[in-house]
Amino acid sequence: MKLNDRKVITYPDTSSGGFDMVAKTFRGLEYLLAGEIEAIGGENIRKGTRMVSFSGNKEVLYRANFQVRTALRILKPLFKFHAKNENELYRRAYSFDWSALFLNNNTFAIDGVLNSPYFNHSKYIALKVKDAIADQFRSKTGRRPDVDTENPDIRINLHISGDQCTLLLDSSGESLHKRGYRTESGPAPLNEVLAAGMIMLSGWDRKTTFIDPMCGSGTIPLEAAMMAHNIPPGIYRKQFAFQKWFDFDDMLFRKIYNQEYPENHISPRIAGSDKSPRSIARARANARNAFLGKKIDFRISSFEDLVPPGDRGTLVTNPPYGGRLKQVNIKTIHSVIGDTLKKNFTGYTAWILSSNTEAIKSTGLRPERKIILYNGPLECRFVKYSIYKGSKKTPPVIY
Ligand SMILES: C[S@@+](CC[C@H](N)C(=O)[O-])C[C@H]1O[C@@H](n2cnc3c(N)ncnc32)[C@H](O)[C@@H]1O
Repeated sequence: MKLNDRKVITYPDTSSGGFDMVAKTFRGLEYLLAGEIEAIGGENIRKGTRMVSFSGNKEVLYRANFQVRTALRILKPLFKFHAKNENELYRRAYSFDWSALFLNNNTFAIDGVLNSPYFNHSKYIALKVKDAIADQFRSKTGRRPDVDTENPDIRINLHISGDQCTLLLDSSGESLHKRGYRTESGPAPLNEVLAAGMIMLSGWDRKTTFIDPMCGSGTIPLEAAMMAHNIPPGIYRKQFAFQKWFDFDDMLFRKIYNQEYPENHISPRIAGSDKSPRSIARARANARNAFLGKKIDFRISSFEDLVPPGDRGTLVTNPPYGGRLKQVNIKTIHSVIGDTLKKNFTGYTAWILSSNTEAIKSTGLRPERKIILYNGPLECRFVKYSIYKGSKKTPPVIY
């Protein structure tokens, strides 16, 4: 069969046995990610910065994409080499047999990540490797594969650290935070992977009451409900990149997809509220997309007017911060949060994500723990408060 006879993608050595993989995540979530990878059978797990490397077979690769909540993407290293300039990079990239990986009628895309004194622009180095691949195909087959940055058949990741270059195959495609349920998002939606990580860090037992009183488009309650009901985060996705690979094992993936993920016997009370009616409409729409409409109680309410049911539970939220909000307003919001927690949330454990260390002080509560997390480029503190007995007022909205 000639190279360009079939529109399939091949790549070496995942057909049997183990191989190396890299899972990417946000800074601060590496420890959780390592635990999740171990739980799905990954081996030789090593934590790095914003990543975890591990080994496993094809089943582990599929499960890492389908089941792991704190992974942004799963990559498979292909080829490592040293290069100190663009010509070397081009030559080494040209020397790899790309026709073992895909065909000239497939589309491809390359992303570059750079941390090196030898190279300046990640876009430019990606372009160099793209040229090497296209030139090799043209010289071997007379035709070059097209680049498609939106929905390529094959995604390649180029990582350069110093003079150490690694080419990796991206098995995920779209970032795994794009679960598929969020069709509606507000002005500052929280990344789903970060939301899942925050819930895990909070130590919520998945059985007791869980609340996000500033829930926006509902990401935190939605991720909490998926965890409580043991719903794999990949269940709503239309596609993973590995499904286009030549050695894609449809039976194996169906087995993982259709497997029973045993339900938690206790269905916890999960609630989300926001003062903005538009936000609550979005949150409800997203919950319906995730078939979780009946599992989450979404309400329009200001945090100040809210009391939780019962006398214990977990509250996780990311209040507004940064952007167009003035410093004084951010401080006021945090002070209102502090007052409301003290008055109405006795017995609760509250976790607040904020990038504004000054504003955090305005809560007037003693933080029990502070964890550094990154919301995109923003360095944040995820702060824990245990709310003990205090004065209570009677607010009008009760869950
Ligand atoms: C950063 S956004 C939350 C984003 C959310 N986690 C998501 O994924 O879409 C902050 C939210 O707090 C809400 N908010 C601000 N002040 C509030 C208050 N006093 N009571 C309730 N909600 C409030 C805003 O309407 C906004 O939706």
